[in-house]
Amino acid sequence: MYLNKEQEAMLNGEYGSIVSKMMRLLVRLGDIYKAEKMIPVASVQVAGVSYKSIGDAGLEFLQDIAKEAKVKVLTFLNPAGMDLENWKEMGISEEFAKKQLAIIEAFKKMGIVISATCTPYLAGNLPRYKQHIAWSESSAVSFANSVIGARTNREGGPSALAAAITGYTPYYGLHLDENRQPHYIVKVNVDLNNSTDFAAMGYYIGKEIKNKIPYFVGIKEASIDDLKALGAAMAASGAVALYHVENITPDAEYVAKEGIEKIEFGEKELKETYEKLNSGEEEDIIIFGCPHASLNEIIKIAKLVEGKKMKKQFWICTSRAVKEIAKKMGLEEKIREAGGKIIADTCMVVSPIENLFSTTAVNSAKAAHYLPGFCKQKVVFKKMEDLLR
Ligand code: F3S
Repeated sequence: MYLNKEQEAMLNGEYGSIVSKMMRLLVRLGDIYKAEKMIPVASVQVAGVSYKSIGDAGLEFLQDIAKEAKVKVLTFLNPAGMDLENWKEMGISEEFAKKQLAIIEAFKKMGIVISATCTPYLAGNLPRYKQHIAWSESSAVSFANSVIGARTNREGGPSALAAAITGYTPYYGLHLDENRQPHYIVKVNVDLNNSTDFAAMGYYIGKEIKNKIPYFVGIKEASIDDLKALGAAMAASGAVALYHVENITPDAEYVAKEGIEKIEFGEKELKETYEKLNSGEEEDIIIFGCPHASLNEIIKIAKLVEGKKMKKQFWICTSRAVKEIAKKMGLEEKIREAGGKIIADTCMVVSPIENLFSTTAVNSAKAAHYLPGFCKQKVVFKKMEDLLR
């Protein structure tokens, strides 16, 4: 792979041993995928933040890196294992909290923005169309590639960190226009009425097409919340990192659609997917915000619960930035009065909720997919209004 003078110097240790190690990792990755060169990245999103996922080995690895290296570009974090301020309220143990805060401290030392969210694009890290970035979290990758039209591969934790520290990523995969062409046309024959319908469709399609690229036709309207739910579900049940929606996503009009295989999605598939994702009956808690809730979703929930006292406890997971605005708008108070909590910096999958609950209700197909395995939960999967009712 061609390296310019700066990249050569990084590799040869002129910027220190950690930078050299990180550049070596990127060169190896580039060699595997036959990248011809490195390209600069505008921003990074690093996964592997929760103590539940990375454990003591991950903490030590990060502390070693933090001794020497700093990030070169705007870098955000994926959700941590707890609300970094109100972890006690979540029922998190002192021991877990201590380790999680040490992980955050290591990231902070590297110069990373302590914004632990899977929706960085709603919280201050918004790439532009065709900008090259190196993001990790699968739903954020899908949103950036598909809805914004930025260019990113689905990075692992170490390769994203390497991109943050060097400012570069190998030029392969979804950074190249020729790899962004659709493999399937998905004909949508049913009205999708809310984000949960979009999520259910995403779950079905992800299972069908695995890591390929779909091109949706027949979707008349889709909000940002619908699209984030759709992408998250396809990335979870399959490994879809990019999708196009006719007349809606920015690259849709430029890609080739001729002669590719068709899949139909209708009423029957939608109903079957709802049934499939329900494994529980009576939930202990309802958790919204997978991917992290937008301000709009919180406004909607606050309106639905205003003046009511819910029988079940409910959480809304979101970014710290959105939680602060919700607080300022008085939404948090309304939600609290109804018996709910807005939880920042974490989510129902990466926090240790298995120690607290056994059946969780969600309106997210991604959460419904991961909760049984990651958190030993039975799942109730319904749309937001139905869960709150
Ligand atoms: Fe985000 Fe957690 Fe869902 S990281 S996409 S809220 S599983």
